[in-house]
Amino acid sequence: MSLFQTKSIESLQKEAASDAGLRRSLSRMNLVSLGIGAIIGAGIFVLTGQAAAQYAGPAIAISFVISGFGCLFAGLCYAEFAAMIPIAGSAYTYSYATLGEFFAWIIGWDLILEYLFVSPTVAVGWSAHFVAFIKEFGLVLPERLTLAPYDYVNDHLVSTGHLVNLPAVFIVCVLTVLLVIGIKESATFNNFMVVTKVSVLLGVIGFGLWYLFGHRDLAIQNWTPFIPKNTGVYGQYGWSGIFKGAAVIFFAYIGFDAVSTAAQEAKNPQKDMPIGIVGSLLLCTAIFITISVVLTGMSKYTTLNNGAPVVNALIAAGAPGWLRYIVEIAAIAGLSSVILVMLMGQPRIFFSMANDGLLPPVFAKVHPKFKTPYVTTILTGAVSAVLAGFMPLSILGEMVSIGTLFAFVIVCISIVVLRKTQPDVSRPFRTPWVPIIPILGAGICFVQMYSLGAPTWWRLIIWLIIGMLIYFGYGRSRSKLTLAKGK
Ligand code: ALA
Repeated sequence: MSLFQTKSIESLQKEAASDAGLRRSLSRMNLVSLGIGAIIGAGIFVLTGQAAAQYAGPAIAISFVISGFGCLFAGLCYAEFAAMIPIAGSAYTYSYATLGEFFAWIIGWDLILEYLFVSPTVAVGWSAHFVAFIKEFGLVLPERLTLAPYDYVNDHLVSTGHLVNLPAVFIVCVLTVLLVIGIKESATFNNFMVVTKVSVLLGVIGFGLWYLFGHRDLAIQNWTPFIPKNTGVYGQYGWSGIFKGAAVIFFAYIGFDAVSTAAQEAKNPQKDMPIGIVGSLLLCTAIFITISVVLTGMSKYTTLNNGAPVVNALIAAGAPGWLRYIVEIAAIAGLSSVILVMLMGQPRIFFSMANDGLLPPVFAKVHPKFKTPYVTTILTGAVSAVLAGFMPLSILGEMVSIGTLFAFVIVCISIVVLRKTQPDVSRPFRTPWVPIIPILGAGICFVQMYSLGAPTWWRLIIWLIIGMLIYFGYGRSRSKLTLAKGK
């Protein structure tokens, strides 16, 4: 059945070793930094507080541990694949080697949900932070130019009377230009953003711990009850709330997998991919769990349901005024690098799909001077800019999460399949305790998918059906693998 034909690992390894036209310039540190760049963003700066207030209470720290384990297990599976088949297509390519072309296409299409939709979603958050920040200095942008003309309320598209979210369009365009100019230049910019946001978050943790030691009684009061009683509403407090919280804050972890899309631009992918993926994830997990404990200790969880919970908790704890500006700058820097790395990931997946014939050849074009996949980078930037500027994005966050979780489940399953079908292929990095780790990884990710609820599942199913129609209408008959076998 040509639907389930697989690409051989040997041919993929040859493809990875050959010159695809991309520039191999990323060091190990660059890869770790790309991971951190993509991970730390809206999730920790905004969602943590909201998820604590709405779903889990102080036990949001447990949600972070659960979601963190799911990501770590999936991350170890990604690491094995990325070192073994260092190709830009990431989970798409891994499924092509294990589950076959049809599943590969489905995963490639599913990854669009993650990469293409994260950037505009985070760009809208960037715009809100940016507008609020410059307002502090008396610079006020007209509201009509800072919000999208449409919103999505009670399942209906409504007009808001605004024109366009100009700052969101601006940041996407600037970062797209940077990505076209070069991967090295983009990585350098990302390094600056990462140093800024990580130092500030460490500062917040330092201040928080100092405050909590000085106000032990208040902290204990705020953490009690650690798991607030279940209100009877599904996902609100109690253990169901902890799981719902895990599914919601999973968004904060998204991004470590984007490191794998830079595999063909890494200097030494076999050794450095696992370090980039797992290293960035472990570092961020430690930061997330600590921040969530500190945040719910400084402020009662019920007060954290706002657009800037970290800043507001600091103010409530009497932090000096300048700390607030610094955290706002860190949030703006943090969101910029998330947008950058996600805008980097999508074109590289398109690039791999076009190389396999499943998308038009123009998608695989590399710039002669800059050595970047510039056609797909510009296309990704343009679509993201339009979505960010004009569309209501409130429903996209959970779509992004379910799409990413689905890819993680498939990658975990693929590791088990490949260990069975190709036990002898060279694996520079091996996921430990197979099949236990991949099965647990797939299980935890699936539970989080389940917790996202029926409407998000329906949207995912509709998205996948659209993908299947495109595959049968275009890719199936043009697949290079099929054409080569027909010769
Ligand atoms: N993990 C990224 C964020 O939290 C997507 O913004």
